[in-house]
Amino acid sequence: MEYRRMGKTGLQLSALSFGSWVTFHKQIDDSISDELMGIAYDHGVNFFDNAEVYAGGESEKMMGRVLSKKKWDRTSYVLSSKAYFGWRGKENKPNQSGLSRKHLTEACNEALQRLQTDYLDLYFCHRPDKSTPIVEVVQTMNTLIQQGKILYWGTSEWSGVEIMEAHRVAAEYKLIGPNMEQPQYNLFERNKVEKEFLEIYKNVGLGTTIWSPLASGLLTGKYNDGIPDDSRFHLEGFEWLRDQWVMQDKIKRVQQLGALAKALKVSTASLSIAWCIKNPNVTTAILGATKKEQLIDNLTALETLKLLTPEIMEQIESIVETKPVQPEW
Ligand SMILES: NC(=O)c1ccc[n+]([C@@H]2O[C@H](COP(=O)([O-])OP(=O)(O)OC[C@H]3O[C@@H](n4cnc5c(N)ncnc54)[C@H](OP(=O)(O)O)[C@@H]3O)[C@@H](O)[C@H]2O)c1
Repeated sequence: MEYRRMGKTGLQLSALSFGSWVTFHKQIDDSISDELMGIAYDHGVNFFDNAEVYAGGESEKMMGRVLSKKKWDRTSYVLSSKAYFGWRGKENKPNQSGLSRKHLTEACNEALQRLQTDYLDLYFCHRPDKSTPIVEVVQTMNTLIQQGKILYWGTSEWSGVEIMEAHRVAAEYKLIGPNMEQPQYNLFERNKVEKEFLEIYKNVGLGTTIWSPLASGLLTGKYNDGIPDDSRFHLEGFEWLRDQWVMQDKIKRVQQLGALAKALKVSTASLSIAWCIKNPNVTTAILGATKKEQLIDNLTALETLKLLTPEIMEQIESIVETKPVQPEW
């Protein structure tokens, strides 16, 4: 495993990490999540990602049960949660979501209970909250750090301007600003990581714990010939995600990536994940998996990374370039 500093902090994260969105509780039970987390940990993964909203709190509970059974040294891994959406879905009352001091504090306490831990290493604001003053967010995160309940705080899907505003407020009040952002990043979603955040990496430092490195599985090639029954895009309630990704233009590019992967004797998934961590501004790519074989395949990305010469990177670029693909007629 390779370990990378999270932005300008002293914390080291494994370049590949493991998360629980969609999978824990909805698709996999305690025994599979136990097996997958075990495989990840044995391969050197030291960061496990979660959020209050995943499976309405059940994902944190499942990870907490697995961790308490594993009895791994707590100092050997990094655990996260995120707050904003609440966990009650449509039943959320006022103050049970958002980034107010009340919700951030209560969500943190609940995450600690569900994950059966004394502290979260990383605590994210899962989305920006335009109705809470940024000073309240920064003060609350700073307080949670002082209380020892969290070690680092960060953002997810915030704009560069919003992140910099949090830093401005933190500097003004002499508080601790955000150290990491969790953006989506994959071969089809690149703007924030590659353009918008460039000045932030340079000027204040920003670790990135990127999500959906496989565009929810699209970049494995599993959707090239339709939607398999046992896949994420077949799940009830995830039609919006399927419709966002399964498009002829994208499938065509995934097929071309598949041909390149075949020539390199690696899987399309491994190639796609390796491409993500080739970017030095990516601290870690969070993997998701429902099956042991998927995770083992994805963990080969570190080996595949060695194959990404400038020529191969250029070939990948010419496949995914955003110009529309030539129509076939
Ligand atoms: N901050 C945020 O807003 C946010 C949003 C989303 C995710 N996240 C985090 O990022 C993590 C990863 O996101 P993600 O799950 O969307 O990642 P992903 O890698 O894009 O998709 C993972 C899914 O693709 C399929 N898959 C993975 N490897 C495969 C392989 N080798 N062969 C075939 N199918 C494979 C599996 O689904 P099926 O088997 O069901 O098809 C798996 O659950 C999440 O767990 C979460 O911690 C954060």
